[in-house]
Amino acid sequence: MVATDKLFAGSIPEIYDRFLVPLIFESYALDLAHRIAKTDPRDVLEMAAATGVLRRAMASQLPAQAGIAATDLNQPMLDYAAARQPSDDRIVWKQADALALPFADQSFDVAACQFGVMFFPDKVQAYKEARRVLRPGGRYIFNVWDKISENDFADTVTQALAAVFPDDPPRFLARTPHGYHDVERICTDLKAAGFETISVDAVDGISKAPSPGHPAIAYCQGTPLRNEIEARDASRLQEATKLAAEALALRFGRGTVEGRIRGFVIAATR
Ligand SMILES: C[S@@+](CC[C@H](N)C(=O)[O-])C[C@H]1O[C@@H](n2cnc3c(N)ncnc32)[C@H](O)[C@@H]1O
Repeated sequence: MVATDKLFAGSIPEIYDRFLVPLIFESYALDLAHRIAKTDPRDVLEMAAATGVLRRAMASQLPAQAGIAATDLNQPMLDYAAARQPSDDRIVWKQADALALPFADQSFDVAACQFGVMFFPDKVQAYKEARRVLRPGGRYIFNVWDKISENDFADTVTQALAAVFPDDPPRFLARTPHGYHDVERICTDLKAAGFETISVDAVDGISKAPSPGHPAIAYCQGTPLRNEIEARDASRLQEATKLAAEALALRFGRGTVEGRIRGFVIAATR
């Protein structure tokens, strides 16, 4: 992972929330919240909460007395999330690195993370931290994306940008969000951190958008892929987004577009 892969700041939070969340995160948030609610937790920790889509899904599915500590490394993501959500006594927003959680041992019944573990530079250390703050019998419930070839829009955008910058293709999407999909490795890392009972479910979905321009803006401007494009030539961000939209249009059509999307949901018990 390169340093800018974890930088979600500037105009990224707003574009992320507006374009990327409905495209790929909302349906998985409902799925994860449902799995979490079934465990009937009292205290939930969310890591890499970003702009709060899982928190919103949990608020509607968890029992009224359940508390949620929503955390993220990047304060601008939490600021964006907190500003657009009504105040709720059950929620605490806190800046936190998943590798060094600012919580006491055995504080939570569930640790949750939606599509965030891929961003943690030391997976085993992050799993150890999640395990440390879980009560005995508590669950770590999280999801990861499958490889990029199973996720149509991300794959098409990555291929389009390779043609724009042939000497140094921006590989953020393949390297980080879609770079930690080997289920055996994930189980090995969890076991190294002390988790024993682990289950894995593949979850398939369909990404839908009103036009090919939507996923192009979502990925090129609402993720750290933007940092990579701008590092190559900031003046070409709009051109790169347009070429990504054109590649999506050629493959998925010029009206409403639909693409395959695939992730894995992992549950590990302390
Ligand atoms: C793709 S987003 C996660 C998706 C988000 N949970 C959602 O459902 O919208 C990745 C998030 O991981 C956060 N992140 C990156 N490194 C982190 C770390 N070491 N600890 C906690 N959060 C981290 C980023 O700030 C970013 O908000």
